[in-house]
Amino acid sequence: MTIEIRPITPAEAKEYLRVLPYANGFPQEEPEPSAWYAGRAAWPPQVPATPADLDRYAEQLQADWIRPQAAFVDGKIAGGSAIVSVEVTVPGGRQVALGGVTSTAVLPTYRRRGLLRQIMGAMLDDCRERGESLAGLSASEGTIYGRYGFSPATFQHRWEVRRTDVAFRDEFTDTGSLELVDAAEAGSVWQVLHERIRAVRVGEISPLPGRWQGLDALPADGAGRAHHLVHRDAAGEVDGAAIFRLPWATDPADAGELQVEAFEALTQEAYRALWGLLLDFDLTKRVVAARRPVDEPLRWMLTNPRALKLTRTRDNLWLNILDVRRALEARTYAASDVLVLEVAGGSYRLDAGPEGASCTATSESADLSLGLNELGTLYLGGVGVSELAHAGRVAEHTTRALSRLDALLRPDRAPHNAVGF
Ligand SMILES: CC(C)(COP(=O)(O)OP(=O)(O)OC[C@H]1O[C@@H](n2cnc3c(N)ncnc32)[C@H](O)[C@@H]1OP(=O)(O)O)[C@@H](O)C(=O)NCCC(=O)NCCS
Repeated sequence: MTIEIRPITPAEAKEYLRVLPYANGFPQEEPEPSAWYAGRAAWPPQVPATPADLDRYAEQLQADWIRPQAAFVDGKIAGGSAIVSVEVTVPGGRQVALGGVTSTAVLPTYRRRGLLRQIMGAMLDDCRERGESLAGLSASEGTIYGRYGFSPATFQHRWEVRRTDVAFRDEFTDTGSLELVDAAEAGSVWQVLHERIRAVRVGEISPLPGRWQGLDALPADGAGRAHHLVHRDAAGEVDGAAIFRLPWATDPADAGELQVEAFEALTQEAYRALWGLLLDFDLTKRVVAARRPVDEPLRWMLTNPRALKLTRTRDNLWLNILDVRRALEARTYAASDVLVLEVAGGSYRLDAGPEGASCTATSESADLSLGLNELGTLYLGGVGVSELAHAGRVAEHTTRALSRLDALLRPDRAPHNAVGF
């Protein structure tokens, strides 16, 4: 058996696609509605790609933002994955290049022979050569990617609330306006809105080209068509939007559900106005919202904070720190301090502050020791340093080093990415 790992040529695109789950129909690996899915089914049904789909996907693979990599066994493609070039917003607002691993699969007959290990090695080398200090992915299973250095860095919630349980604490008068728009208008609104959101939201990812086109073609999977709601401020500027569905249900128990698939607001007024309408939509009984941040403010706007029931929590973006020094210098910090970190055997002096940081190799003794997985989880500030220390994954060598690093890393809001790749 001869194995060759290399990027594919344009002529090999369809052979490569036939290996991948999204061209073949995903396995039903989610036992319950996922944190990113607002529908009732465990996983939206997927069907094998049609020849027309394959033509379209094959053309997409020629774009410069995607780098497909394949494992050839005796000349035939047996496994594949790809890196997409995206950006992630880090604390301080810099949008840092991230190699996004996506569409990973090895044919069932070639699994557990090290093909993914070799593909991943080639892809991460390619990221380093291009100067990407971070790689990322979202994981189908929690056991696969830790071994390559990836670790959960952002998380998302799915929640639901009964309409009759909703009462807002405060009176509210909207100085702006709400409007239902068509998918074409929603596409242009989302493009601008998401750019403004990701400029200020730690963890948010740049959308892949075409992300906001064809919003009317979102997979319906029996959930009805997508409706597009937009909020404008008093000056007429868009400052919030939502995409929701009102699925038809044959079972009365499931009837009257409003599913929120996407929701963004730049201001507190837009946030309150959009939820005000969605949570009191005529003829509905219940609202289900997916892909929500873990620090959803809505709970704290209700007279009954228990009304909002969390039905799923899941890791979202996994990070892999490919260049410790550059990654630590790319972000800003919530306090000013100097710490020596031993990361995966190397020692780094981190001189950090609200304006940025310098990070240099050092022979000084370390305040803390941790591994690359731990740094990936801590990097955006979504998990406390002490939490990992209590799990035995960060070692403290000097007094208060854990709380000092915690004070540096924590952002104001939990990191969150509503967009993936
Ligand atoms: C997940 C998948 C890509 C792994 O490919 P593979 O070529 O079999 O993986 P490798 O042989 O290189 O395995 C590397 C290591 O990961 C482990 N591993 C692989 N798949 C695993 C899984 N699903 N669960 C736990 N461990 C796994 C192997 O045991 C091996 O461990 P080692 O480093 O201790 O030797 C492949 O099994 C697959 O296509 N699964 C179905 C589709 C899927 O889940 N894709 C992921 C989409 S995000």
